[in-house]
Amino acid sequence: ADVVKVGLLGLGTVGGGVIKTIRSQQEKLTSRLGKRIEIVKALVRDSEKQRAVSLDRSVLTTDFDEVLQSDVDIVVEVMGGVEPTYEYVRALIEKGCHVVTANKELLAKKGTELVDLANRHHVHLAYEASVAGGIPILGVLRQFLRTNDITGVRGILNGTTNFILTKMETEQQSYHDVLKQAQELGYAEADPRSDVEGFDAMYKLYILAQLVYGESLPLEEVNRRGIADLTAGQIRMASELGYRIKLIAQAHRRGDGIRLSVEPTALPTSHPLAQIQDAFNAVQLSGNIVGDLLFTGRGAGELPTASAVVEDLAYLLTQPFIPHPAWKEREAATSSKEEVEGH
Ligand code: NAP
Ligand code: HSE
Repeated sequence: ADVVKVGLLGLGTVGGGVIKTIRSQQEKLTSRLGKRIEIVKALVRDSEKQRAVSLDRSVLTTDFDEVLQSDVDIVVEVMGGVEPTYEYVRALIEKGCHVVTANKELLAKKGTELVDLANRHHVHLAYEASVAGGIPILGVLRQFLRTNDITGVRGILNGTTNFILTKMETEQQSYHDVLKQAQELGYAEADPRSDVEGFDAMYKLYILAQLVYGESLPLEEVNRRGIADLTAGQIRMASELGYRIKLIAQAHRRGDGIRLSVEPTALPTSHPLAQIQDAFNAVQLSGNIVGDLLFTGRGAGELPTASAVVEDLAYLLTQPFIPHPAWKEREAATSSKEEVEGH
């Protein structure tokens, strides 16, 4: 079979999972794709670090130029952050490399430029892993929901905070102890404030809104609140009253505007989203023809995220390039802020 040369930017939780998945599924992938995936370069910060996966010394590098100058066909970006990642991804696209990324912050902040750049260079920019971990929600929205008008999107889009809320409620564990476990399990962001202050869920909601509505609000316009100031007492009281507090992200059209919010919300325990526990995520869509749909699955962690990354790789190895619809940012809404705040 032909060899497809793949470069990795980052070899942490997700990068390690990607290598494990490619290795464990190699035979099947090669026969299904007719191509053998080979990791030829992997960019890291510290080449001496002990890692969960072993790679030939010649594959590891701390110099991005080595990745850029190698003859890779596709690069998987799983290093995170916006700087220097944005410059790296730009340079790779300009060179004609397809890019698969799990980086929601990069997409929410620079998606408009990157989608446009990828379209101009006729390369794929695939980012299924950036929203809701292993749930293939972006593929569903792109391919299977073209007839329905989606009237609302609601969900639990952050595994770390759902894990914290679950353990605080069901095992009375302390916020700090559970956050530490979420970090050890590889769920949390490098800076976990992104999880607990609601930024990570906001970035994912922004990406969903681009696909559902063809535009999104500027990030500054999103009504965002995290779980960092929730107390064990509030969680217990909600539970005693038959409610469960969840960090709910939602987007919907109101009038000619769209509203995006991320905030802790008390839901009756019988509500489908209240049933989503641990690091699971869920996305609930309402379509004018199909009615309500609920997608759920593991939203964070090594293998669920690697699953989405490797599925993207397999997809772009078998599909011709099709330009991605341009990303647009909506004009700052005039009255939305007060209405959302008073809501
Ligand atoms: P991680 O464990 O912290 O790994 C990051 C990797 O990138 C490390 O190998 C690190 O090198 C490397 N790296 C970081 N900055 C670098 C730089 N400036 N130059 C060179 N290498 C650099 O992170 P992760 O959890 O795998 O997450 C990676 C990305 O996937 C992030 O965008 C995250 O938001 C996204 N994501 C994560 C999950 C999850 O469950 N963890 C799920 C979905 C999406 P060293 O190893 O040498 O430090
Ligand atoms: N830190 C993120 C979360 C990783 O906990 O959901 C998955 O995007």
